Amino acid sequence: MSIMTMMSISPPAPSSPPPPPLASSPPASLPVRTIPGSYGWPLLGPISDRLDYFWFQGPETFFRKRIDKYKSTVFRTNIPPTFPFFSANPNIVAVLDCKSFSHLFDMEIVEKKNVLVGDFMPSVKFTGDIRVGAYLDTAEPKHSQVKNFAMDVLKRSSKVWVSELTSSLSTMWDTVETDLSKNNSSIYLVPLQKFIFKFLTKSLIGCDPSISPEMSESGHVMLDRWLALQLLPTVKIGVLQPLEEIFLHSFAYPFFLVSGDYNKLYQFILDNGKEILERGKTEFGLSQEETIHNLLFILGFNAFGGFSVFLPTLLGTIAGDTTGLQQRIVKEVRQNGVSSPLTFDSVKEMDLVQSVVYETLRLNPPVPLQFARARKDFRLSSHDSAFEVKKGELLCGYQPLVMRDPKVFSEPEEFRPDRFAKEKELLNYLYWSNGPQTGSPSESNKQCAAKDYVTLTACLILAYTFRRYDSITGSASSITAVEKAK
Ligand code: HEM
Repeated sequence: MSIMTMMSISPPAPSSPPPPPLASSPPASLPVRTIPGSYGWPLLGPISDRLDYFWFQGPETFFRKRIDKYKSTVFRTNIPPTFPFFSANPNIVAVLDCKSFSHLFDMEIVEKKNVLVGDFMPSVKFTGDIRVGAYLDTAEPKHSQVKNFAMDVLKRSSKVWVSELTSSLSTMWDTVETDLSKNNSSIYLVPLQKFIFKFLTKSLIGCDPSISPEMSESGHVMLDRWLALQLLPTVKIGVLQPLEEIFLHSFAYPFFLVSGDYNKLYQFILDNGKEILERGKTEFGLSQEETIHNLLFILGFNAFGGFSVFLPTLLGTIAGDTTGLQQRIVKEVRQNGVSSPLTFDSVKEMDLVQSVVYETLRLNPPVPLQFARARKDFRLSSHDSAFEVKKGELLCGYQPLVMRDPKVFSEPEEFRPDRFAKEKELLNYLYWSNGPQTGSPSESNKQCAAKDYVTLTACLILAYTFRRYDSITGSASSITAVEKAK
């Protein structure tokens, strides 16, 4: 094997410089303030906040209005789901600037047991009656086993990641072109999700969904339904109110509605993922069941769910741009010719492409809410004040606002494609992966195991696309024109 080929399959090197200690003890000069805000009357406070959050204001205005009201980026409020059929405690302490948010990453002072979507937790029936890695705190020994397994799966998949990515992506663009030859536009969500599902299943699990006609045609839909049922109580959909409140946010949907889908996905991995199942057992001490349920969560929730939210935003941002950004990307991705294969290393040389990916993640963090519970009493600091937090209190950060912290990002509302190319130190404050972009996922933290794979994959998608096309036109849901590379 040549050195060049070996380089092309090397996994992304972990980025190691430690982030600045934003969450360290507040300087003595910061005034200590009582956390402003209240939870209101029992039942009435939570229901009124729930209606504001989902209906009258929407998440962003909900948090913005309270920042203005309390003149603080740290305050108490309630977060849905709530009354009448949820037992979850809706009381939270919101942390809405980069400094206060960064406490969520300090595993000495916070714990992340069962808080993936706040105090509400989808039934473990959705995950085979076990608490998969995402629900485990770093103090639980099983977390290390599962996290190390996830990172091993990624490392092994890196051998085929780029080739599987580009081959499935090529099929997606072929479909878009066929659509465009017949219609004025191509609604690309289905081809996009098929591409994501196929490339992830082949890379992460090591088997091709095409061996099963049902998996190949509907595997992505099975995951969509499984994800939707778990997350519906926590997200604003935009259906006509009050229907959304009554039917989507008042009770948790039962697992049996998707048990058929889940069992098929389980069986598919059991039948076709022999090598990875063996590795889960021998190298990481996981039972066969634990391995499959964790793999399904990583594949379906983390990877497929994450990319399904992120990639339409990325493609929409670029396809809708009218500032000449595409021409600049074209120039960068073709500067060393177009015949050499794309690799992780080749896109690491593309400063503009990387910066565009980071800036898209900054303005549209795919997982908007992050939660953690105080492990002990501690003093939390925002940019201008310090607050006493009590053991057991639930902290909640809403990233779309945190990532527009005006004390960290200049012109925070603007999409500035070169932002991170010009100011690399800002990567210390890019938090989409539940940790800074300069941090490294490990068994001792809860940072996304695929932090580098996600950004490099997005870069590879842009590089492939703009080697193939001189321009693309469209939005986050449809492509209306493509101009092939001349
Ligand atoms: C665009 C795609 C992705 C996004 C936006 C994303 C985002 C995140 C976020 C925000 C978390 C932290 C959740 C929390 O605790 O609050 C997380 C955790 C995790 N992600 Fe990703 N992720 C993506 C893709 C992937 C992929 C491809 C993998 C594949 C292996 C992966 C594996 C994991 C794992 C295993 C964890 C749990 C970490 C732990 O428990 O310590 N993610 N991800």
